[in-house]
Parts: sequence; structure tokens; C-alpha cells
Amino acid sequence: MHFPSSSLQALVHLGLLLGASAVPAPDQALQQLMRIPASNRQQIFGHAAAPPFTPDHRDPYDHKVDSVGENRQPLPFRNGHGATVQGPRNKDRERQNPDMVRPPSTDHGSMSNMRWSFADSHTRIEEGGWTRQTTIRELPTSRELAGVNMRLDEGVIRELHWHTEAEWAYILAGRVRVTGLDPDGGSFMDDLEAGDLWYFPAGHPHSLQGLSPNGTEFLLIFDDGNFSEESTFLLTDWMAHTPKSVLAENFRVKPDTFKSIPDSEKYIFQGSMPDSIEREKPRGFKKSKLQFTHHMDAQEPMRTSGGSVRITDSTNFPISKTVAAAHLEIQPGAIREMHWHPNADEWSYFKKGRARVTIFAAEGNARTFNYMAGDVGIVPRNMGHFIENLSDDEPLEVLEIFRADKFQDFSLFQWLGETPRRMVADHIFAGDPKAAEEFLKQIEGAEKEPLKDA
Ligand SMILES: *[C@@H]1O[C@H](CO)[C@@H](O)[C@H](O)[C@H]1NC(C)=O
Ligand SMILES: *[C@@H]1O[C@H](CO)[C@@H](O)[C@H](O)[C@H]1NC(C)=O
Ligand SMILES: *[C@@H]1O[C@H](CO)[C@@H](O)[C@H](O)[C@H]1NC(C)=O
Repeated sequence: MHFPSSSLQALVHLGLLLGASAVPAPDQALQQLMRIPASNRQQIFGHAAAPPFTPDHRDPYDHKVDSVGENRQPLPFRNGHGATVQGPRNKDRERQNPDMVRPPSTDHGSMSNMRWSFADSHTRIEEGGWTRQTTIRELPTSRELAGVNMRLDEGVIRELHWHTEAEWAYILAGRVRVTGLDPDGGSFMDDLEAGDLWYFPAGHPHSLQGLSPNGTEFLLIFDDGNFSEESTFLLTDWMAHTPKSVLAENFRVKPDTFKSIPDSEKYIFQGSMPDSIEREKPRGFKKSKLQFTHHMDAQEPMRTSGGSVRITDSTNFPISKTVAAAHLEIQPGAIREMHWHPNADEWSYFKKGRARVTIFAAEGNARTFNYMAGDVGIVPRNMGHFIENLSDDEPLEVLEIFRADKFQDFSLFQWLGETPRRMVADHIFAGDPKAAEEFLKQIEGAEKEPLKDA
């Protein structure tokens, strides 16, 4: 029987089925290999592969499997190890998390949870709208930022308010009217649509209202993971908790002017339909010198072999001093390359598609997570990671958000490409000059390319 030496070498290098970290001599490896049943040997060499999640399946390279798209039920079988599940199971969750049920063989250690879905958040339902949040309470690794998903139907108002944290927002659907005030008394009004942003520094008062035809939905980001959407400072709450005699003094009207004001907060409620901004400007309106909104989608994207990237931070949206973001559209077969962020934890929001992300935490620790539309992911600063597209028919769309004034990342590809070739070869390919040559040719003159074609 003849085995192509490269395949044999690959097997030996992977230590697959040898169960040993020391690489045995080739003839010893061959002997061990011969002990594997012939059918399995075939699968190792890529013939007649058994389907994923079956006892006979072999995949020394840990390829991704889209269990949702291919409608496969994940089971904990990996390269001849594992067994069926006999106890109770949540099959839907297992299908959404194939890499939890059967992690890649490269995963190791006990990493904190880095995934949450807005579908698991409590929804506060109000007149004409709703809100749900992902904070440090839902996801303990969400320390630097908190996220809120909010919907306001046509004419529905998120009432005049302010809060201790700065607020950044990305509009997911529909149209919204935004109002705000700066500390110099400058006012701001703007109408926004999907793909637009706003940013209000800490303490700056503002309001939101859904516009015709069907209102709006957006993602809010606050620059503290401990933020709570329940604890903002609301106009009606303050008035309800101030003596009416004081309201009268403050606004120079009779106390009974306030006899029918709300006796508790309104928060989200149906308002009357807004007119155009021009017609709604109050007489005392002084336009703010600050720009609180930005059209992220209208930015010319950076186009790469694997998709498009838009980056918005204080460089092109100056007021956004504490939140930076990248919007990624990852094309068929592409990957968000191996990289890390030196200046902040990543708070990712998945808009479309399905993904596989492995987070590398040093000391041999790594864990793989799966995400789909509506999910939130965390990658603590400096931890290496990639984002792989799992779906066959849906593009992957992700927002990477940071508590930082600038977006920063390091590309593994670029780093190695700009390191002396000899150094790189010594590290990864000592004793395999052929592999070294092939690899070094690939990374020659490496440019950072956030999204790569396969
Ligand atoms: C608004 O919502 C209604 C009811 O769901 C729907 O039929 C209609 O197509 C929506 N219009 C737009 C412009 O989205
Ligand atoms: C988060 O806020 C709660 C309530 O205000 C407080 O008790 C807790 O100490 C805060 N936690 C952190 C980590 O700041
Ligand atoms: C996702 O990746 C797979 C495999 O690389 C590819 O076949 C598929 O077309 C991709 N799908 C999309 C929509 O990006």
C-alpha cells in the first residue's frame, strides 16, 4: 500500500490519531496508521467522506460546518472520539452552535462566554414600540460597552432624556427624527435612515421619533457595559417628582398649569406626527456648531478581495470621541482575516448571515463561537481572532464597535509579511523548507487586507 508522502507528513504533523504530541518517525507513523480501519483511512485522505457529526467522519483540518444552512443536527463526534447525546437537548440551540457541540480540535481551556443573542434579552413593551438590552448583566464580558435594540413605530417618541454615558447609534431600518442640545445652547435636528449614525456625548439631552411610513429600529451603544436603559434621566419623571410650586416658579406660570402633567415617566409613547424640520424649528432655535449625525453607509467603502469595509471614528465623525466602529460586508467564501485590536474590546453585532469566530487568549487557550443575525459577540482587547462566513447563500454583515476614539487593528498577515523571512521560517517551518517557501511567497509584500477571498 502506498501513501502519498505529503499526506502522511500532514498526518504526522497534526499528531492526528497518534494521540501523542511527540512526532514519531515516519515508519512508526505508518505502522500506527495501519492500525486505523481502512474505511477511516480513506476518509482521512479525503475519499468517501462520512457526513459531519457522524462517528466515521474525519476532519484533521477542522473545517466549518453550517448546521443551520445544511440542516444538520450537531453531535459531539470528532475524529473517532465522542458519543451520541442521550439526555434532554435543545436542538435549535445546538444547530445554532455547531462549534460548541463539536469544537474544533484546536480549542482549549476555559474561556468566559463571548456570545449573547438579543433574542435572549428581556423585551420592554411600550405604546408603539419596544426595547431590549445586552449589558454586563446579560453578558458579563460586555464590560466596556452596552447595547440596546429599540423599535419606534411611526410617530412614536423615545422621550426627551439624557444619561451618564455617551450614546452612539446605528440605524437598522426605517427613518427617525433626532433632536439634541449642546452645552452652549446650540440645537440640533436631523432626519436619518438605515445606515446612518448619531452620537451624543455624556449628559447631552436628546429625543428620537419614528417617521413615516413605519417608524424605525436601531442599535444603541453606550460607553459603559453597566449602562441600563431603565435608568436614564427623563423629562416627565423629573417633572413628576418636582413640587408644582417650584415648576410654577421655574417656568413663571400658575401652579395649576401643571395639574394634568403625567404622574410618572412616559419613556416610549405615541406622539403626534412631525412636520418638516424647517417648520418645526422653535423661534429660539440656534443651530449647534457640532455635527451629531453621520451617514456611515454613504462613506466610500474600502474594497478588498473579500468584501467591503467602512470605518467611522473620530477621524471622520469628530464628535464620536468614545466610540469607533467598522462595518463589514464579507463576501462569499471570504474571511475577516486573523487580527487583534490593541486599544479596546470588540463588541460585535451580527446584522446578516452566520459566522464562526475563534478567540485566542494566550497560554494555549482558544474557544470557538458561532453567531447569527441578532447576536452580540465580545472579543477582549488584544485577543487574536478571525470571522469566517458559515452560510452558503447569505452574505455576512457585521458591525465591530469599540470604546475608543480611533479604530485600530493588527493584521497577522501584514506583520509576518513585514518580518524578515528567515525569522518567520525559523518560527513556523523549521525543517520544512518546501512549506516555508510556499508560505513566504504568499506573504511577500503583505498588505493589510481586512477581508480576504478564500
Ligand atoms: C409598512 O408596514 C406595513 C404593515 O406591516 C407593510 O404592509 C408595508 O409594506 C410597510 N411599508 C413600508 C414602506 O415598509
Ligand atoms: C453596576 O451598577 C450597579 C447599579 O448601579 C452597581 O451596584 C454595580 O456596582 C455596578 N458594577 C460595576 C462593575 O460598575
Ligand atoms: C461563505 O463561505 C463559503 C465557503 O467558504 C462559500 O462557499 C459561501 O459561498 C460563502 N457564502 C457567502 C454568502 O458569503
